[in-house]
Order: sequence, then structure tokens, then C-alpha cells
Amino acid sequence: MSSAVITLETQQNASDHLIINRPSSGISLQGSIRIPGDKSISHRALMLGAIAEGETKITGLLLGEDPRSTAACFRALGAEISELNTELVKVKGIGLGNFQEPIDILNAGNSGTTMRLMLGLLASHPHRFYTVTGDDSLRSRPMSRVVKPLVEMGAQIWGRKNNSLAPLAIQGQSLKPIHYHSPIASAQVKSCILLAGLNTQGDTTVTEPALSRDHSERMLKAFGARISTDPETKSVTVTGGAKLYGQSVIVPGDISSAAFWLVAGAIVPNSNLLVENVGVNPTRTGILEALAMMEADIQLENEREVAGEPVADIRVRSSALKSCTIAGDIIPRLIDEIPILAVAATFASGTTIIKDAEELRVKESDRITVMAQQLNKMGAKVNELPDGMEIIGGTPLTGTEVDSYTDHRIAMSLAIAALNSTDTTTIQRAEAAAISYPNFTNTLKEIIR
Ligand code: S3P
Repeated sequence: MSSAVITLETQQNASDHLIINRPSSGISLQGSIRIPGDKSISHRALMLGAIAEGETKITGLLLGEDPRSTAACFRALGAEISELNTELVKVKGIGLGNFQEPIDILNAGNSGTTMRLMLGLLASHPHRFYTVTGDDSLRSRPMSRVVKPLVEMGAQIWGRKNNSLAPLAIQGQSLKPIHYHSPIASAQVKSCILLAGLNTQGDTTVTEPALSRDHSERMLKAFGARISTDPETKSVTVTGGAKLYGQSVIVPGDISSAAFWLVAGAIVPNSNLLVENVGVNPTRTGILEALAMMEADIQLENEREVAGEPVADIRVRSSALKSCTIAGDIIPRLIDEIPILAVAATFASGTTIIKDAEELRVKESDRITVMAQQLNKMGAKVNELPDGMEIIGGTPLTGTEVDSYTDHRIAMSLAIAALNSTDTTTIQRAEAAAISYPNFTNTLKEIIR
């Protein structure tokens, strides 16, 4: 039955559209799901492995397009990285300060994390010249948020629009340490500066307005960096000059990928899903708190710690959802899950407000405008706010033609919305899902009953 519900068609221009046809008799979702590795941790494992001395062994790496971009860039900088697979990736590090000068442009593809974190390392490796670029989306995303603090440290970076847009050219320098008070809660900004601080003499500190994901801090500590955190003041300090040593990293499943199944299981009637091996680092679990506010039936099972990161299996059973307000310090802890939370809110009773999330406008797409437009095409009532959305829930959705705008999280969010919509939904440019979730469509087919 499931193969009749979902089809994937490839157009001549190699862009896939995903067709989801919910039968009038309805569906339910059942089974156990293993999600792919955490994207943030995968990037960091490859990067820290590359700048460490000795060998890093990575188990559970995400095989999405974004970590592939990171691996390609760091190979060009001199690290030996074995073929990417989920079992075991070996990274032979070159040691801090030892990048080779790449003979071509470093291409970060669609990945903001690759570009922003790598900029911190490149800017602080003197006597070498680098150029970095990305795809159409990444070349339009703001790099000034990392260029500005790096320039304060003495970096030399050039690019369009006052050095704020890729392609960027970087002349590596010996930098000076700073205390940077970031205007935004961004793990990419924080990590960029900390990575620049590794090869900079003295103490480099970042203070954030709200705590963003702390995977860099945890992994830097494990690799031997001198790093201290002060949760009270939301500050992190790295003391430059310490050597990093290769480690074994076990990448947990990505809670941002689990989020699609948690919402799917909650909204599709009579569903019962177990999502296994999910990373539940407290700086990432805003989605669980938001779904709890919406009265979703979600339980954590088998909670454990794996290689310095908390992990659990998460069970979801369908239930009636209620609206809620999502705003303030929780936003950085669920920033990537807002598109799928918007889907949950369309099926909840009452009006959900999402505020303080203007960052969504500079993600892989403008996720406020795109989600509002695409869900409204399906019959939802979503109003754009400058910094979020107002979602008037409880309106039934009807399948139609929608578009991912090449944004992986939009593609998958719309697929989940389609599971609970009448008729047929066609998602254009659904291949974008492979950025963070290469097997998404297969898993979707497997759990439909
Ligand atoms: C990421 C941080 C977040 C997130 C992105 C991955 C990271 O971005 O949206 O998908 O790995 O550091 P910001 O830090 O810019 O909010």
C-alpha cells in the first residue's frame, strides 16, 4: 500500500518532485526509525579531526550533502579524510597551524556551517590565501556576522556588499584575541570565533544574548582545547595555542531530523513511532518542549550518554494538539525545527504565535515567507510576522503543488503536512532533503500503514 501513496519522479532537469497521495481511507504511521547522524556534530568532527594531530575516528557521520562539502574543503586544506560512510570515517589531521594553501576555490555548497566555521580557521592561519564560495542560496546569506568579529581580531577578508557576501577572499593573518558580545544567538558565529581563537595567542571570549547549541564547546574540550564556559553569563573562552589530538567521535542521530517524525506521529491519527538514537543535548531540545506545550504524546526512553552527548529513543503517539506561543530564549534551541512546528500548529486547535525568530529569514531560504506561502497554498491560515508567524490552527489541508525553494527543511516539512492532507500533494524540488536527510523518502514509505 505504501508504494501507492508516495512516488518520486525525476524531471528531465534532474530535479525531483515527491508526490504524496493520501487515500481517502486515511493512513497511520507505525514502526521504529533510525535517523541519520547529527549535522552540526558531523561538521565539527570532520573539522576538528582535520586540525588535530593524529587520527580521528568518526562513527555515525551524516552522509548528507553538507558534511560532504566540509570533507571536500578540508581535504583541499591538507587533511586526509577516508571515503565517507556511516560505519567509520578516518581523518588524519594536519595539526593546528598547518593548512596547505588550496590551489582552487573552497566550495561550501549549501552549508552555512561549513562556510562560517571554516572562515574562523582560515582567517587565523597566516601566510596563505584562500577563496571560499557556495551555491546560490549560500552566496546570498549574510557573512558579515562572522566577518565583522574576525576583522576586529585583525583578519583580512574581502567580498561583495562591503565584504559580507561570498565569494570571499581571505589573506590569513596572526590574529589578536577579543571579547566579542554577539548581537545574535548563533552557534555558527560563536564557533567561528572560538575556532579563530584556537590559533591565536591569549584568551578569545564570546558572549551570546541566549545560549546556542554547544557542540563546539563539548568537542573542543574532548580534543584537548583549553576552553571554559560560563553558563551564567552565556560566555565561552578559548585560550589559544593548545594542541588538539585526534579522538573517537560517535555521532548521535539528529534531533532536527527526528523532529519530522515526531510531528508526523503526533498529527497523523492512530500513529505510534519510535525514533531511535536521538541526540538530546539540552541546547537542542526546544522542539520537545514546544511539542509538550502543544500537548503532544511524547516520551523519552533509554536515556544515556554517548561520547559526551546525551542520547535517547523517543516515542510519539498521535494526540490532539493545542496551540502555544514560541518566543524568547527557546528560539535558538529549536531554530531549525520551526518549519515543522508550523506544520504541527496548522493541525492544532487555537492560534500559535512564533516570535523572535527573524533569523529564519536568512536560513537556506526565507523560512517565514516560504512556509507561510506554501502552507497557505494547501489551505492553512498562516500570517507572516516580521520575526515569525501567526498560525490559525484547525483548518483542514488539501493537497496541491508546493515548492521547497531548494530548502531541505521546507521540503521535508511539506511532505509531513501532505501526510495529513486530503488528495495529492506534489512537492517540487524535493531532492533538497538530501542536504541533511538522504533517506527521507524511503523512511517515509516504510512507516506508512
Ligand atoms: C548550526 C547552527 C544554527 C543552525 C544550523 C546549524 C551549527 O545556525 O540553524 O542549521 O551547526 O552551528 P545559527 O548558529 O546561525 O543560528
